[in-house]
Amino acid sequence: MKKWRFDFRIWHWLNAFVVLGLLGTIFLRKTFLSWRTNSELIAQKLLEIDLEITVEQSKILAKAIRAPMWEWHIILGYALAVLIIWRIILFFTKSGKENYINFKDKSLHKKMVTLGYIGIYSILLFMAISGFVMYFYESLGLVKDTVHSIKEVHEFVFIGVLIFVPLHIIGVIVADNTDEKGIISDMISGGSKI
Ligand code: HEM
Ligand code: HEM
Repeated sequence: MKKWRFDFRIWHWLNAFVVLGLLGTIFLRKTFLSWRTNSELIAQKLLEIDLEITVEQSKILAKAIRAPMWEWHIILGYALAVLIIWRIILFFTKSGKENYINFKDKSLHKKMVTLGYIGIYSILLFMAISGFVMYFYESLGLVKDTVHSIKEVHEFVFIGVLIFVPLHIIGVIVADNTDEKGIISDMISGGSKI
């Protein structure tokens, strides 16, 4: 049997793609497609051709430009929800349990790695639940103020994802170059039979 079953590897890379995609939408929202920056730019450029618009109007235009990109936050959000359910199902397979068995016998470093994975799974679960609660707030009968509070927590917990992702990528690259040679290719080819 391979260390990482085929379906587990597919799950890992799809999950990596979706989480990186979600981070990409945040990056764009906060930089090139930021409504604050773009509304000022739109107002200024229109003024140069003698068209004056109000702050409110330029804000509407900037948000309309951002909207098609932001749809991807929701599309990838649905994908993340499916991936979370898939990961729960995978827990009942040998590969799905691989990092979580014999915890007591692990080195301190390996214990931290395992706790890091449990941490990111909890964070992703929270992001998905809070994200969907915000998205369907009207159907859930919530008021805008509540959505605003949830958004603040959603945005704060996002820092956890921002810390995990680079730490994880650097971590596996370092491990592959030191005492765990082949750890990355194992997640691609499945690893040696165990
Ligand atoms: C793109 C570069 C990435 C590489 C090269 C990579 C590589 C790996 C490798 C080699 C493992 C197995 C490590 C071990 O057994 O401890 C692993 C596990 C894992 N990776 Fe990644 N990964 C990448 C991106 C991501 C991203 C963006 C996420 C998003 C959250 C992620 C989430 C995870 C999780 C949760 C596990 C633990 C799986 C388990 O439950 O056993 N990875 N990754
Ligand atoms: C890795 C997972 C996720 C991360 C890192 C993430 C990150 C963020 C961040 C940082 C914001 C605040 C953006 C800003 O105001 O500048 C946000 C807003 C939001 N997210 Fe997520 N999110 C994730 C998953 C989800 C999921 C699964 C959904 C479900 C549909 C979702 C739905 C939303 C919604 C509805 C907003 C509010 C948008 C608005 O007020 O216009 N997110 N997200």
